[in-house]
Amino acid sequence: MSEESEGELEARLPEGESFEPPESFVEQANVTDESIYEEFEENWPDCWERAADLLDWEASYDQVLEDGDAPFYEWFADGTLNASYNCLDRHVEDGRGDEAAIEWVGEPTDETRTYTYQELLDEVQEFAAALRALGVEEDDVVTLYMPMIPELPVAMLACARIGAPHSVVFAGFSADALATRMNSADSEYLVTCDGYYRRGDPLNHKDKADDGLGSVDHGVETVVVDRLGDELEHDLGDRQRGYDELVGEHAGATVDPVTRDAEDMLFLMYTSGTTGKPKGVKHTTGGYLSYVAWTSHAVLDVKPEDTYWCSADIGWITGHSYIVYGPLALGTSTVMYEGTPDYPEKDRLWEIVDDYDVTQLYTAPTAIRAFMKWGEDYPARHDLSSLRLLGTVGEPINPRAWKWYYKHIGDESCPVVDTWWQTETGGMMITTLPGVGDMKPGSAGPPLPGVSANVVDTNGDDVEPGKAGYLTVDKPWPGMLRTLYHNDDRFIDEYWEEYSDEAAGEWVYFPEDGAKIDDDGYITVLGRVDDVINVSGHRLGTMELESAIVGVEGVAEAAVVGGDHDIKGEAVYAYAITEDGYEGDDDLRERVVEGVEDAIGPIARPEAVIFSPELPKTRSGKIMRRLLEDIANGDELGNTSTLRNPEVVDDIAGKVSDD
Ligand code: WTA
Repeated sequence: MSEESEGELEARLPEGESFEPPESFVEQANVTDESIYEEFEENWPDCWERAADLLDWEASYDQVLEDGDAPFYEWFADGTLNASYNCLDRHVEDGRGDEAAIEWVGEPTDETRTYTYQELLDEVQEFAAALRALGVEEDDVVTLYMPMIPELPVAMLACARIGAPHSVVFAGFSADALATRMNSADSEYLVTCDGYYRRGDPLNHKDKADDGLGSVDHGVETVVVDRLGDELEHDLGDRQRGYDELVGEHAGATVDPVTRDAEDMLFLMYTSGTTGKPKGVKHTTGGYLSYVAWTSHAVLDVKPEDTYWCSADIGWITGHSYIVYGPLALGTSTVMYEGTPDYPEKDRLWEIVDDYDVTQLYTAPTAIRAFMKWGEDYPARHDLSSLRLLGTVGEPINPRAWKWYYKHIGDESCPVVDTWWQTETGGMMITTLPGVGDMKPGSAGPPLPGVSANVVDTNGDDVEPGKAGYLTVDKPWPGMLRTLYHNDDRFIDEYWEEYSDEAAGEWVYFPEDGAKIDDDGYITVLGRVDDVINVSGHRLGTMELESAIVGVEGVAEAAVVGGDHDIKGEAVYAYAITEDGYEGDDDLRERVVEGVEDAIGPIARPEAVIFSPELPKTRSGKIMRRLLEDIANGDELGNTSTLRNPEVVDDIAGKVSDD
């Protein structure tokens, strides 16, 4: 936890106001009875059978929750199932093979592809056969380094079919980031592509993948999807195969879904934490899939006949849970869009909603703030009346943005679900049920039925309603991470150490977010209290950024903080001390930016790089990050009396305001 005090968290609180769920929505909602909260509480943990019942199990489980080795909980243990069977075969068996599973929309406006459930199943089987032919065996980790092209969900489901966990690395991440993740997971297989479109231009992706492979410390078999055809020539190297050719070799193949235990790993997802190295979050087959199916049903109100759209990237957990696994498990049509919201024009999303009659839209506050800035004329050009529900995720949403979304996109007739959750939680944890609870802009809502979340002080005691504290979760849930890959100790340290009473057998999960709770049990999440910055809803670890910056020749020391940003929520502010003989000039500044882009990717690009002869430090030598945040935000500076070197503060503040 950082030195953030409860008083400082207090300043982040929004003011209250509330909206009832629109009647037209409630009339048709999947969940409408508020007794569900009580029912789940009384029947906990058996209430979670309701989630498991949304799936088809090969062998049913004996026990809902096994907590003998807490916090290494097991859910639906001894049950067996296959995730790809649940997302594909069973819908085809139900006679729904001709219905759309994926509606893919390319960035070029004339490029779209529809995969019916039958077509998706066929291609998944062909690629599963191809992966096997390459040598992939059950439990081998397959890395998928791909942008938003349909072959990404195909590869995910093919992996799931043969019991090989996937590790998707966001395509915007750098070569170094790819290599770190492949090395950490001992992953000997990579699926990637030649490139993709960004704002009308073909962007080379394979060079980055090849660079990354150069730093992987073991041999790798690679499959390359040809996304760009003649637009971008690419060569295949040693141990590299073309996707089309491989799949062609297995045309018409059938691959039986392998039987997986509920607790077998479905995938790994690397995310940023307090320390320098990304954490490999492990999710399992039974608990995770049940949980994302359940939350898609209860919160996103997904029905098979819907055309549902989550505009996240599959490279993040949101895309895993709510583009691929949740929606497909429920047999709906899920939209997948390759491009950005402002290309070719700032109404692109609204055009897609209109063209496809999208029924639910799930996006991020950062996107909503951009739409707001562009103005309401863009959505007004299109018929958005097909929309029934709106959702947001990734960061706190300010009430102004919430209300704009509710009014200008939802026409005041769609509930807005503000869903709090994390890579680690697998699925949504805190949000209103759209057919049940009133919505309060800025507040995510109560914990979902069966989820037990509290707001506590540093001692772990409940704080008074309305006061800021720390969010905790004191009961396990099926979608929870099971451990950090190959690192059980770090799993305990990072999430369970802070508030658990091990001797009493009370395990409390700490998500590292600040929050407040109201009298009515609504929780407002106030943002991270660790060294993680949330830029446009993407988690970046300050330690990762700092180690990238000190790796640049000429930089002796660095401190990175998140400063407020109108659109991105937070932006990266980098403070650096130069080495003797180097000057903090534009050349060095450019190299710092490049260093960050090389280590992580363009999403981590610093908003500002400030050179200074010293960083503000306490007498014990700790960098005072809060002060650097105040400086970045142009706020009145907090207490400087505990500093060893208070004189540097004005100097740095002067440099930032000159910028
Ligand atoms: C933040 C994304 C406020 C939070 C699904 C959390 C939110 C981190 C919300 C997880 C929300 C996510 N309101 N803050 N509705 N949703 N967050 O792992 O700080 O990429 O800890 O998962 O995003 O980010 P992650």
